[in-house]
Amino acid sequence: MSKAGEMQGLRSLFYPNWSSDVRLDGKTAVVTGANTGLGKETAKDLAGRGARVILACRDTARGEEAARHIVREVKGAKVVARQLDLADTRSICRFAESVYSTEKALHYLINNAGVAICPYATTADGFELQFGVNHLGHFFLTFLLLDLLKHSAPSRVINLSSCSHAMGKIHFDDLSGEKRYHPVKAYVQSKLANVLFTRELGRRTKGLGVTAYAVDPGLVNTKIIRHIKQPLVDIIKTFRFMIKTPAEGAYTTIYCTVTPAEELSNGGFYRDCALATPCNAGRDEGTALKLWAVSCHLLGIHW
Ligand SMILES: NC(=O)c1ccc[n+]([C@@H]2O[C@H](COP(=O)([O-])OP(=O)(O)OC[C@H]3O[C@@H](n4cnc5c(N)ncnc54)[C@H](OP(=O)(O)O)[C@@H]3O)[C@@H](O)[C@H]2O)c1
Repeated sequence: MSKAGEMQGLRSLFYPNWSSDVRLDGKTAVVTGANTGLGKETAKDLAGRGARVILACRDTARGEEAARHIVREVKGAKVVARQLDLADTRSICRFAESVYSTEKALHYLINNAGVAICPYATTADGFELQFGVNHLGHFFLTFLLLDLLKHSAPSRVINLSSCSHAMGKIHFDDLSGEKRYHPVKAYVQSKLANVLFTRELGRRTKGLGVTAYAVDPGLVNTKIIRHIKQPLVDIIKTFRFMIKTPAEGAYTTIYCTVTPAEELSNGGFYRDCALATPCNAGRDEGTALKLWAVSCHLLGIHW
């Protein structure tokens, strides 16, 4: 057996195998950060099920390269790349306008893009980068696309979070990270924000035909570790038997996309293709409400 086969065998002891032949013909999906990693695998899978997929990518050339790759791999794939920089609210507005101008419907918004454990930086609007991209950027994108999602109901929003949300705390007194910035704390804060946003979105869209799910993809071999220092990378590599391929890592997102809504829990947190319990902070209704209000205030929106 090859090394890759051995590793896959070992992983299957920890992670259940999952597959589905559900078709998504006639459905439209937006996947953010779809030029690489989990986003690209998710986009490829949805395209293979017949969905029209908009690859929302920061870099147009990388987005188009990913689209060409998917078209080569998936016969008849209907994919298109569009520019979206989640670190710039003007870019998010332009992207949303382009979706409204070309799409009659949007059934799946997959908020996948992410930046992790990077040195201190800010978005074009002055938000700390990890909170700004991972949470605020997707919060704003969802706000702008919600009318189309409602119009296309039943529809879904899927937010990529992480098991690391359990180490997170929302630092309402220092969301810009100006007083004390720690790359890991900023990342886990943003991933906790993904869980809280999902929970509150699910509550607010009840009865509208739009449902929301947060996903922990597991430990996946992607470029997400680009900013992580070598000693930590070495520690992560000792768990290589548990590290999923991007295709394996995308399973839970795809599970939340294709499983009938009646079998899923709106606002819930999913791991390894099953409902899981987020940490206490991820279930705190007060924090979820406060985060919603603060996010609206920072973005200057009423929602
Ligand atoms: N891999 C894991 O082990 C793991 C574990 C838990 C959670 N997650 C979550 O899974 C999601 C996908 O991560 P991944 O592992 O696939 O990482 P990845 O390979 O680094 O891909 C991240 C994607 O996000 C895009 N992105 C970053 N900043 C952006 C911005 N300002 N605007 C638009 N797109 C932007 C990147 O674009 P560029 O290529 O242009 O940089 C890339 O397409 C993330 O939300 C991450 O937090 C991953």
